[in-house]
Amino acid sequence: MNKQKLELTWIGKDKRPRLEPRIFLEDKNLSFQSSFEASNPESKPTQSFNDNLLIHGDNLLALKALEHQYTGMIKCVYIDPPFNTGEAFENYDDGLEHSTWLTLMRDRLELIHKLISKDGTLFLHIDDNELGYVIVLLDEIFGRDNRVNIVTFKQGSATGHKAINPGLVTVTNYLLVYAKNKKEWSPKRLFTARERDDRYSQFIYNYEDGYTSWDYKTLSLAFSETLGMKPAEAKKKLGEKYEKELNDFVLKNPERVIRTARPDYSSVGQSVRDVIDLSQKDPNTVFLLKRDGYSDMYFKKGERILFYKDKLKMVDGELVAGEPLTNLWNDILSNNLHKEGGVKFPKGKKPEGLIKRVLELCTTEGDFVLDSFSGSGTTVAVAHKMNRRWIAIELDEQALTHIQPRLKNVITGRDQDGISKSVNWQGGGGFRYLRLAPSLLKKDDWGNWVINKEYNAEMLAEAVCKHMGFTYAPSQTQFWNHGYSTETDYIYVTTGSLAYEQLKRISEEVGSERTLLICCKAFMAEGADLPNLTLKKIPKVILNKCEWDHDDYSFTLNVLPEEQDEEWADDDSEE
Ligand SMILES: C[S@@+](CC[C@H](N)C(=O)[O-])C[C@H]1O[C@@H](n2cnc3c(N)ncnc32)[C@H](O)[C@@H]1O
Repeated sequence: MNKQKLELTWIGKDKRPRLEPRIFLEDKNLSFQSSFEASNPESKPTQSFNDNLLIHGDNLLALKALEHQYTGMIKCVYIDPPFNTGEAFENYDDGLEHSTWLTLMRDRLELIHKLISKDGTLFLHIDDNELGYVIVLLDEIFGRDNRVNIVTFKQGSATGHKAINPGLVTVTNYLLVYAKNKKEWSPKRLFTARERDDRYSQFIYNYEDGYTSWDYKTLSLAFSETLGMKPAEAKKKLGEKYEKELNDFVLKNPERVIRTARPDYSSVGQSVRDVIDLSQKDPNTVFLLKRDGYSDMYFKKGERILFYKDKLKMVDGELVAGEPLTNLWNDILSNNLHKEGGVKFPKGKKPEGLIKRVLELCTTEGDFVLDSFSGSGTTVAVAHKMNRRWIAIELDEQALTHIQPRLKNVITGRDQDGISKSVNWQGGGGFRYLRLAPSLLKKDDWGNWVINKEYNAEMLAEAVCKHMGFTYAPSQTQFWNHGYSTETDYIYVTTGSLAYEQLKRISEEVGSERTLLICCKAFMAEGADLPNLTLKKIPKVILNKCEWDHDDYSFTLNVLPEEQDEEWADDDSEE
């Protein structure tokens, strides 16, 4: 009997594309201040890109193309795929059937899982249409133990046309958070702003005199005195502004704003009890208890003094009263969302503040961030402003009409919307605009797979390196050295036919300490003794490695296995 396991099944689950690992082609007119351009404008790019990358194309092929260079390198992936709501959105088509949607997501998520670093994180943004299904899918790919949180994100309010519909008004969607490996995962501790805690209602008016003689009055009195009024007068005069001004006053004097608390005498240690006793005997003096490795404690009249300053946390670049971040994110509604980044992207654009929180939680400067459903480019705009390295993938024209101009504005420092002010963004950096190369092999008029005429020698060498698992790094001095797999193993790619004499010369140059894989059109080496060379013919050596000349994996996947079509048509039990 087959060993059963808990899993989600759907029509077409077994169908997996055999993806061609394409190379990228740079469109230099659309790249902007990339570090390659800045460092060496004359020389040719090696095609192994280290810059920020904006990739215009299908994300399945693009993720496959990134696999060789970026496996295990991406610290954070945030994706916000089409929600599968059945609605035809203005900017993308997301009316896919459930099974198709699951297949599309599974194939992409498996590649994403490979790219994420061992301490990295995936955030998948989703609404409640596929929520249950995608959790089970992700549990399968990442492991249930690595599901670390499900965040509820409040993205709207019960207003407008949706408030008229019968039943409950949907105002939330979700971020599924998965660690690549929970044991290696160490997110930062973040805080969110909370209302002023009005239990802190006393004010040390003689702070400068030294702690032993500290004395307090009420906070409202201390505040109104700074305005030269009585508390009731100040409240009346300031009206609605009173609370805000009082808050500002507290934030300017957090070490003086306090509350007192009576410790539970029976549950504290002897040293605390001793100080409590002392302070009760001498009620006009403040006593200090210094503690190794813990914060100091101050006591007056048997009560502990608690300071507002200890409640303050840095949130969005400001010191405010903070509480630990929870899995309910209802504080990031952006009233100016349509203006952020200077691009209109109705219904799909997410607030920059949301991405900032995601990146603060689990990345630091210099980390790689990937968004393979980039839309208007929010994720990478925020990543850029936070000095992370980034990769954006977008299938549609938004890559050109939204993301490219948005990132240019970020780089020049013109974009001062979104999170710019809170991170003091001034501009800088650059990116490369890439497209996927066409298929390496095409069928000729007789139906045989041949090397695509659009490939020049450099593209061919790079593509064959990728297929054979070599890193493309063409040498300036050795014509036979196009890349390496280890420190002593190299590759040479040529459409030429190599005669025995040529092979012998190459073999001598390679020497006995190194090995060389030669991929060429033909060779004459029968019976030859060339132990450091391995000879393969192209395209034969790569012919069965993947499926060729398949460009659109987005909306043409036939999820019904052909041989079963009829069976289903006859099956009345199917919905
Ligand atoms: C909900 S939007 C993302 C919005 C984005 N978070 C933002 O703030 O602008 C989803 C995006 O995924 C893109 N997309 C859908 N299928 C794709 C595919 N196969 N490859 C790349 N992008 C794809 C759509 O074109 C759309 O722009």
